[in-house]
Amino acid sequence: MEKNRITCQSEFEPDLPELFVNKNQIMEMFLNLIINAIDAIGSEGGTIRLRALKQDHDNRPMIRIEIADTGCGISEKDKGSIFDRYYTTKETGTGLGLSVVERIISAHSGKIEVQSRVGEGTTFILHLPY
Ligand SMILES: Nc1ncnc2c1ncn2[C@@H]1O[C@H](COP(=O)(O)OP(=O)(O)OP(=O)(O)O)[C@@H](O)[C@H]1O
Ligand SMILES: [Mg+2]
Repeated sequence: MEKNRITCQSEFEPDLPELFVNKNQIMEMFLNLIINAIDAIGSEGGTIRLRALKQDHDNRPMIRIEIADTGCGISEKDKGSIFDRYYTTKETGTGLGLSVVERIISAHSGKIEVQSRVGEGTTFILHLPY
């Protein structure tokens, strides 16, 4: 992140409830999402913003976690494929990262959403029950 002049901001609601999770899987999930954000920003510099707050989802008590980047964004056409195994737009990508993320989220009874605009950036929104 330093090399690519990426700033990281985080904003966590105080007194968030604890989540019962598989820590290694959750770490792997965040690593995949953050590396994707770094790749999307590239060498031009930018910002990655992390946010967490309590917010009900599907009428269930959840923690909402956002990973937002100011990178290249995802086209409408690509949005439907990014969670597919082996789908990549990178020369050396495996295309496995987001399929692993999706599997980990669903193993934790969570949900994942993506909002993106080409040239503006991307936000992945995770909902995890507590
Ligand atoms: N934050 C993001 N901004 C823009 N595009 C993204 C972002 N995250 C994912 N993508 C798109 O989704 C595709 C699939 O992502 P995924 O993490 O599954 O594979 P990858 O990053 O290409 O490969 P690997 O994870 O093995 O390095 C990426 O190639 C990229 O096109
Ligand atoms: Mg990836």
